[in-house]
Amino acid sequence: MTIPLVDLKAQYASIKGEIDAAIEEVLSTCSFVGGKNVRAFESEFAAFCNVEYAVGVGNGTDALQLALRACGIEKDTEVVTVSHTFTATAEAIVNVGARPVFVDVNETYTIDVSQVADRITPCVQAIIPVHLYGQPADMDPLLSLAEKHGLAVIEDAAQAHGARYNGRRSGSFGHLACFSFYPGKNLGAYGDAGAVITNDPEVAKRIDMLHDHGRTGKYMHERIGFNSRLDALQAAVLRVKLSHLDRWNAARRAHAALYDRLLADVPGVVTPYVSSNVEHVYHLYVIQVSNRDRVQAALKAAGIETGIHYPIPLHEQPAYAHLRYKPRDFPVTHALAPRLLSLPMYPELTDEQIHYVADTLKQAVLCG
Ligand SMILES: Cc1ncc(COP(=O)(O)O)c(C=O)c1O
Repeated sequence: MTIPLVDLKAQYASIKGEIDAAIEEVLSTCSFVGGKNVRAFESEFAAFCNVEYAVGVGNGTDALQLALRACGIEKDTEVVTVSHTFTATAEAIVNVGARPVFVDVNETYTIDVSQVADRITPCVQAIIPVHLYGQPADMDPLLSLAEKHGLAVIEDAAQAHGARYNGRRSGSFGHLACFSFYPGKNLGAYGDAGAVITNDPEVAKRIDMLHDHGRTGKYMHERIGFNSRLDALQAAVLRVKLSHLDRWNAARRAHAALYDRLLADVPGVVTPYVSSNVEHVYHLYVIQVSNRDRVQAALKAAGIETGIHYPIPLHEQPAYAHLRYKPRDFPVTHALAPRLLSLPMYPELTDEQIHYVADTLKQAVLCG
């Protein structure tokens, strides 16, 4: 049996008729940038997230940069975030001229809010919690802290489309939230795409202007902006896929529950910890295991593809050496890196495949 980490072909096969018709429709209109599909996706995605405004942009990294720019984050400012994330979170901070200030994560793999207060200085202007692997960060205490210090909160929800915290959708808590629709995401386009969402009309207007050359009219440019627009083909694909997202997320949760059950008693394997007030959407199903590299090789030999998210924390990457952190500045993050292993996870996964992964993993662990 061969099991990929993500199976986009299986997903396309399940919705081929709808996708092909949506693409066909865009091709027949030849309206490739902006237009009805982009506007419709923006309003449908805003409604899905339960916010007022969504602006479709080129990708999730641009979404973060646009959100930071819209909050006035620039040179000589600092933004608190985690080192345990994909590089785009911190890269966006650096690319607007600001400095990332890292904090550690807790057992949910999201920001340890108890560490944030100590990092707040007059230079800190924003906090970016990352809803990593599909689990929302602990937003209530974070929002209280941000309010007390007058800081903007920008949710990095690139891995958490549709997740809930206290019953509310991820992305509806911060002043703004950023999504990636990279193909393998829970809501993935057929190319690069992203969105910024917000309830603030002024912020929405700013993002709308900045993502399209700082434009306020056809050749009127109020600010230096970006060219980071969502194209119509991606919007058409995303509209089709958005209508399936809740069902797909429910399937991911059911798969995670089966993995949890099958791996519960395997010595040395730690299954995901999920807070009681969240609904996880399992963009990734990540376990901890000792002898990770050996276990990963054994799974590969049995035809099972796995991933590592992420092998080197950002504070230990050469790109962030200028921040002068030491490996053990973030002990939880540092200790996780050699232990994390992402198992196959996608809606179309079958119970038989999950049993095969769990059995193979068990054997690999017990033989080690
Ligand atoms: C947590 C996180 N933030 C930001 C991004 C950036 O998104 P994109 O690849 O669409 O630029 C990603 C994408 O992998 C991500 O996982």
